[in-house]
Amino acid sequence: MTSREDHLMDWLRDAHAMEQQAVTMLSALAGRIQNYPELKMKIEEHLSETKRQASQIESCIVRRGGDTSTVKDLMGKFVAMGQGMSGAFASDEIIKGSMAGYTFEHMEIAAYRTLIAASDAVGDPETSAVCARILGEEEAMASWLADNLPAVTAKFLSRDEAQGVEAKH
Ligand SMILES: [Fe+2]
Repeated sequence: MTSREDHLMDWLRDAHAMEQQAVTMLSALAGRIQNYPELKMKIEEHLSETKRQASQIESCIVRRGGDTSTVKDLMGKFVAMGQGMSGAFASDEIIKGSMAGYTFEHMEIAAYRTLIAASDAVGDPETSAVCARILGEEEAMASWLADNLPAVTAKFLSRDEAQGVEAKH
């Protein structure tokens, strides 16, 4: 039987890998956006937060006696999504990228809710507090995207009609 401490360590490592993947995705996305300055700025802001989150999770892992040198392979879905966002984009890449970002935030939210419960279950209030802080940042990003996806979509559709096939991102 796997102990609850081992499960927590396992899930912290998953979260660390998830944040590293997020850094890759957000960098790729921000670097490609040209015509949506607010979205670009928000993604860059969340990229800085994400880098901090990765190191905060790493600190939790180390404090609990683990290390991050043997971080497990990412779950397939994260890899697939990262490839989708960093590879050849479709002409509507700004929409696909925004949707992927929104989806990814919700996976992060699910991960941190789980981590908070698991930290509480093993009696680790420090890890629980770190995860609660990060959860708040992921929720804020998800909520910003929810509020702004309609405007991004409307702008994309207008630009698409006005400019034909060029400069859609
Ligand atoms: Fe994150």
